[in-house]
Amino acid sequence: MHRERIKIDLLIHDLKVPLAVVETGLTSLLQRREKYGLLTEKQEKVLARAQRNTKVIRSLVNDILELGRSREGIVGLKSLKFSDLIEQALIEIFDLVDRNTSERIRICTDLPELRQTLEKKGLILLIEEALWCQEVYLDEAKIRQILRNLLNNALKYRKSRVELEVNKKDVHLVFSVKDDGEGIPSIYHKKIFESYFQMDVTDSYTVRGHGLGLAGVMILVEDMGGKLFLESDEGKGAKFLVKLPLTKNNYSDLLRRSS
Ligand SMILES: Nc1ncnc2c1ncn2[C@@H]1O[C@H](COP(=O)(O)OP(=O)(O)O)[C@@H](O)[C@H]1O
Ligand SMILES: [Mg+2]
Repeated sequence: MHRERIKIDLLIHDLKVPLAVVETGLTSLLQRREKYGLLTEKQEKVLARAQRNTKVIRSLVNDILELGRSREGIVGLKSLKFSDLIEQALIEIFDLVDRNTSERIRICTDLPELRQTLEKKGLILLIEEALWCQEVYLDEAKIRQILRNLLNNALKYRKSRVELEVNKKDVHLVFSVKDDGEGIPSIYHKKIFESYFQMDVTDSYTVRGHGLGLAGVMILVEDMGGKLFLESDEGKGAKFLVKLPLTKNNYSDLLRRSS
């Protein structure tokens, strides 16, 4: 790995310790009133907001480190259920923008209940019950990061509706995230995956982020041997599709169950 890159990754890695201290402190103040004293409603609000934002920083730090690991070809396969993977990604997303919904997702006990909760927010979850309950070997950190980025974009740019669909097609796993927003003109379809690219602000589009998310998603998908597709046209919404290979080594469980 390039020496400069290692230095930057080390710096980012070292942010974890002070960050953990801040997070633990905030959690203690919020949860251990008998030791640290009572809080007024306003103090509690401020602390809870600070706590949520330290969580965001923690997940961003982990994302950057995961991208570094990915560039080195490290894939960390772990046995997990689709339901846990998707629920976790959704909780991370809603924790920041809509605490009530993230709490509701946390207490959902089955797929129909989760679907109902999400539908109220204009998010449609399309996955078969059998796949939802299936256990699979996947790189959880990478897939969560991919889903979080695609879903956050879709929720940001939609008019009213977002669809998350998960399917198994032959020897591939396919995730797609579709929205009904302004869409992306075809001249930008390649550029959009380049770092720091955002669509021209002189168009009707305004700058609303950093232009790093999709570039990262592309790296993660490719490092897992997958492909990322974009189907979109101006005014017609956008659909991002992630196709990951189910090979004998990393997805043996899923293959065995389906055969
Ligand atoms: N679902 C979408 N609909 C319309 N435009 C999108 C969508 N997703 C991404 N874009 C465009 O692609 C650009 C790059 O996205 P991204 O890499 O996630 O960066 P960021 O979210 O930081 O702007 C965005 O600034 C936006 O212009
Ligand atoms: Mg983004």
